[in-house]
Amino acid sequence: MTKGRIFSGIQPTGTIHIGNYIGAIKNWVALTEAYDCVFSIVDYHAITIDYDVESFQESIMNAARTLIACGLNPEKCRLFIQSRVIEHTELAWILNCITPLGDLERMTQFKDKSKQHRENINVGLLDYPVLQAADIMLYKSTAVPVGEDQIQHVEFTRRISRRFNGKFGKTFPEPKWLLSSTPKILGLDGKAKMSKSLNNDIGILERPDDIWEKLRTSVTDENRKRLKDPGDPKICNLYTMHTSFSPDDVVTDVADQCKSASRGCVDCKKILFENLMKELAPIQAKAQELEKRPDEISDILNDGASKCSETAKEVMEEVRGKMKLAG
Ligand code: AMP
Ligand code: TRP
Repeated sequence: MTKGRIFSGIQPTGTIHIGNYIGAIKNWVALTEAYDCVFSIVDYHAITIDYDVESFQESIMNAARTLIACGLNPEKCRLFIQSRVIEHTELAWILNCITPLGDLERMTQFKDKSKQHRENINVGLLDYPVLQAADIMLYKSTAVPVGEDQIQHVEFTRRISRRFNGKFGKTFPEPKWLLSSTPKILGLDGKAKMSKSLNNDIGILERPDDIWEKLRTSVTDENRKRLKDPGDPKICNLYTMHTSFSPDDVVTDVADQCKSASRGCVDCKKILFENLMKELAPIQAKAQELEKRPDEISDILNDGASKCSETAKEVMEEVRGKMKLAG
């Protein structure tokens, strides 16, 4: 007996970073034990902003490899590429027809991305949450593990499910969002959310030397200008990372030493680096090993897509029936 169905997705844009890992992926791996899980590499979402066409396939395969290296076991979940299951866009169209335009214009992510990509504010960018709702609803998912930035999109999905059920009869559950214990990690600037597009991230597969260089120069509590200035761990992003990667006794120790100014930020970063690499090194080794067997990844993705297509077809048949579309 599983507790219900989980759906979540990740965009294949550049490398996957430790914000994705702590905010979502680590949680996905844990949830596969108790839930029926469906995870997608959402390529249709990724093309709503300008992307590098030539390297796109490689990014998709890298994303799949990284997820599996992080511990996602394809025998315990379905992993697939969104565009391979055509019903995602079919359901998105239907949901478009019950979505008030104002709901989409109010979305925080749309507003942020419209500012970031002024030269390409396309309809897909506005419609992004509808496709995300379709992803979730197509599998009648009951819960969606995401980072904090995605709560608004899951709340939107709940409203659309309710609206569909109200108009055409009970069909979809209202999915809940699930957060990890660290649903938001800031970037190395200590200001904005860690994100590939802001170039303030640490990639899971980055070389240890590069990771150290990024950590070494990252922003901590800015009130700690000199070694003897006490710091406040609560406002230090590096401390948040410690809570995710260091053992509990170390977390307590770094907080105490920061508050009493008895340890400098560089030493604190060295401890974090050591613990971070303890977690990342086996993932990097597994990813390297998988790189030698690309066919294995393709098989996993094909298998995931064909299993997802089965569910998707059934649900779409029910949807068409309820809406009195062609039977
Ligand atoms: P994306 O890379 O935008 O496709 O995000 C994939 C997953 O990682 C989503 O569930 C996000 O909410 C989560 N995520 C992305 N960035 C962060 C961050 N800085 N902190 C925590 N979670 C994040
Ligand atoms: N919008 C999500 C993000 O940027 C990715 C995503 C697409 C997603 N479809 C989804 C997440 C469905 C959860 C469920 O992180």
